[in-house]
Amino acid sequence: MSYVEERIMELSNAENRRSQIYKLFNVLQQYNVTALKIDGRRIKVAENHWVNDFASCNYLGLDLDPEMQMDVKEQIIKWGVHPSWCRLVASPYIYQEAEERLADLIGVESTLIFPTVTLISIGVLPALVGKSGVLFLDKSGHETMYEAAKIARDNGAKLESFKQDDFKSLEALLIKHNDNNRKVILVDGVYSMSGDFVSLKNLIKLAKKYEALVYIDDAHGFGIVGQEPTADVPLGFKGNGIVKYHGLDYENIIYVGGCSKAYSSLAAFVGCSYKMRSFLQGFATPYDLSGPCPTASLATLLKGLEINEKRGGSYRSQLWELTQMALNGLRNLGFTVLNNTGFPIVYVVIGDNADLITTANILFRQGILVTVSPYPMVSIGQEGHRITLTAANTKSEVQQLLAAFAEVRNYLCEVGRFGIEMKSEISSVDIY
Ligand SMILES: Cc1ncc(COP(=O)(O)O)c(C=O)c1O
Repeated sequence: MSYVEERIMELSNAENRRSQIYKLFNVLQQYNVTALKIDGRRIKVAENHWVNDFASCNYLGLDLDPEMQMDVKEQIIKWGVHPSWCRLVASPYIYQEAEERLADLIGVESTLIFPTVTLISIGVLPALVGKSGVLFLDKSGHETMYEAAKIARDNGAKLESFKQDDFKSLEALLIKHNDNNRKVILVDGVYSMSGDFVSLKNLIKLAKKYEALVYIDDAHGFGIVGQEPTADVPLGFKGNGIVKYHGLDYENIIYVGGCSKAYSSLAAFVGCSYKMRSFLQGFATPYDLSGPCPTASLATLLKGLEINEKRGGSYRSQLWELTQMALNGLRNLGFTVLNNTGFPIVYVVIGDNADLITTANILFRQGILVTVSPYPMVSIGQEGHRITLTAANTKSEVQQLLAAFAEVRNYLCEVGRFGIEMKSEISSVDIY
C-alpha cells in the first residue's frame, strides 16, 4: 500500500472534520467541479450541461467587468507579472498606492496588504498575543482564524471560545483572564454562513472595559457593507466595511478586509495604526517569509477601488434586489433561510447530511451550483445550501434557482421531511 493509500485508510475511519468532508467527495456532484467555460455567471461543467453559479463570492461582479480586465495588461507591462520579492525586501509602487487608497476608503491611519486573509491571521494573531496572551474565539468565526489560533497556542498562548453574541459568557472569560494584559477577541465582521453582522457596539464596549483588542475578519463584509445605513440602503454606502457600518472608529480594533470576494482580487489587508503597521512588518511572519500578491491582483484591486467610486453604489443596489428576490422566493416556498440582514449570503437549512447530498444533486441536475455545507462544516441540524449572489447574476437566473428549490421541496415533501424541526445544536467548531 502506498503512503497516501495508508493515510486515506487511516483517516477514513476517523471521525474528524476533514475525514467527514473527504467522504463526500465521491457522492457530491457539487464538489471539485471543473468549469470548462464561463458565460457571465453560467458555467459549462460537462458537454451539454451548464449551471448557474450561486457559489461565487465575486459580490460586485467585478471579475467580469471589462474595465477591470483591460487594466491588468497595462500594469503587467509596467511591473512584470509577479513581484517575486518577499515584502520585507521590496514591493512595487502599486502596493503603496493600493494601501493608501484602502486606508482612505475605510477611514483608518494605515493598511498593510498580504495575499490572503488566512496568511494575515496566521501571521498577525501569534504576533499579537505572543507566548503569554489569550485569544477569545467566537464559535461562529471562520475556521482559518481557528487554525491561526492553534499556531498561537503552540507558542504558549491560551485559547477560549464563546458563542456568537453571548456577551455574558465572553465577559466571564474576560474576568477570568483580567490580569493578563494580552487579550484579543476574534470575530467575523459578517458571518460567512448566515450573513449575520457582528454586534460590534456591544463587543467594543466590553473589550474597552477589559482592555482587550478586537480582531475583525471582514472577508465578506468589505466591499458590501458600509457607512451610514438607511432604511432605503440597509447595507450602507461605499462598501467600506463593518466598522464604518456601525459608525465606530478603529481605536482598539485590528480590521482585516478581504479583497478576494467583493473585489475579485487575490489580496487582503490589515487596517490599523501606523505603529501597529510597523510592528506587523516586523513580527507577522508571512511578511518576510511568504510571497507577494501577483501584479494582476494588485491591478484589479486598484481598478476595483476606482470602479467602486463610480459604480459601486449601483452594483450594491442591484445585488440587494437580487438577494431580496431569492430570500422572498425561498421563504415563500417554505424553507428555513438564515438571513436577517439582506447580505447576499442566503443559507437554506436542510437539516440532515443524507438529505443534503440528495438535494445537492437535484440542484446540480437542475443547473444550480451552490456551496453545499454538511456537518461538520456547520452544526448538526444546520446542514444546508449556501447561496451567494453577485451583481452579475440575473433575475432569470434567480428564477431558475427558485424553480430548482421547488424541486428540492417536492423531494423533501415526498419523503416526509419538509419543514421538520431542526435537531439539537452541536457546535461544529471545537478546538480543544
Ligand atoms: C470569513 C472568512 N475569513 C477568511 C477566509 C479566507 O480568506 P482567504 O481566501 O483570503 O484566505 C474566508 C474564505 O472564504 C472567509 O469566509
